[in-house]
Amino acid sequence: MKKNKKRSLLWSHLPFLPLDFILLNKTFMQAPIRWGILATGKIAHKFATGLAALPDAQLQAVASRDQSKAEAFAQEFGAITAHGSYEALAADPLVDIIYVASPHALHHAHTLLCLRQGKHVLCEKPMALNARQAEEMFEAARLHNCFLMEAMWTRFLPAWQEVSQWLAQGLVGEVRLLQADFCFRSGTFDPQSRNFNLELGGGALLDIGIYPIALAYQVFGEDPVEVKSTASLGPTGVDEQSSYLFRYANGAQAVLSSSFQTHGPKEAIINGTQAAIRVPLFWRASEAQLLHHMAEPEVHTFPLEASGLQYQAVSVMADLRAGRTANETMPPTETLRIMRMMDRLREDWGLRYPGE
Ligand SMILES: NC(=O)c1ccc[n+]([C@@H]2O[C@H](COP(=O)([O-])OP(=O)(O)OC[C@H]3O[C@@H](n4cnc5c(N)ncnc54)[C@H](OP(=O)(O)O)[C@@H]3O)[C@@H](O)[C@H]2O)c1
Repeated sequence: MKKNKKRSLLWSHLPFLPLDFILLNKTFMQAPIRWGILATGKIAHKFATGLAALPDAQLQAVASRDQSKAEAFAQEFGAITAHGSYEALAADPLVDIIYVASPHALHHAHTLLCLRQGKHVLCEKPMALNARQAEEMFEAARLHNCFLMEAMWTRFLPAWQEVSQWLAQGLVGEVRLLQADFCFRSGTFDPQSRNFNLELGGGALLDIGIYPIALAYQVFGEDPVEVKSTASLGPTGVDEQSSYLFRYANGAQAVLSSSFQTHGPKEAIINGTQAAIRVPLFWRASEAQLLHHMAEPEVHTFPLEASGLQYQAVSVMADLRAGRTANETMPPTETLRIMRMMDRLREDWGLRYPGE
């Protein structure tokens, strides 16, 4: 274990600040939430960038399977401790909550590792390979009285918070149709990469299809009564492209797709009886358009601060401070409904992961 000398400027100067200044500023009165980051890949970098924008969050520690990677990450983001194993991070007594940022197939083991050491966990999406694993993870969280949430960060973005208000206020009338895609052509085909490797939980559904599916649950708030889907499996056995068609009890529909084979607009269109809402690049939305029949779109912008991954962390930290073990915006029931739907889709395609 190596200590990084870079400490939070704010906290190291606290003893020297005038008392009335401290009392006037509520942020100073709250101890920062001490985060640990498990794994140092792409999303871990983005999360750390977001966390750095939050004055009441402290990046306490980071862990990699490789000590030198952990040290480089700690240096870049000012983490106090760099651990050369995930086990050491889970056992670190100075860490309050761990952000699990390893590939999907390892979320189950890594989250259990942290929960069993009494650590709260924010786990990257998809929460696990299947609903059974996710159920075990929530059960472990309950047993250890720890917080656990799937990092479905899109739901916490200012644009989606606003669109949720519009829907609740009936601005578009009754929603009858949702169209959403998440398609991007994955550069060079690397069968070992987490996108294509069956062992790592590869496939478009779990990696990116989860976004339009989670959106359908957000918009309609219930399971569909009819589900049709199709998938094109690639040479490694994972779904490289898949499409999903949902019908709800009231006849409303969702038309969703995800692909590693094509580029797509990655937009969501919520069609209502009075108007529609278009959200460009919906999973990292910074804009929402209200579309009235034959009129120019009414464009609303919601610029993302930092990487945007910190909005979910703000909500999680409010939960931790209030002693809650689940989050209202992304509760366990929602994660489990989405996982069960993805299980069902994979079952239809005959796609199973090793050990299932
Ligand atoms: N990239 C995104 O934009 C994005 C967005 C949202 C969610 N996510 C989710 O975040 C998770 C990680 O995605 P990522 O894009 O950050 O992946 P990545 O760049 O491949 O990083 C994954 C990290 O996991 C660790 N790891 C542990 N065991 C591993 C193994 N057997 N093979 C490969 N890596 C292993 C490695 O960290 P160490 O070497 O430091 O141990 C690696 O850097 C995924 O579940 C993904 O769905 C990603």
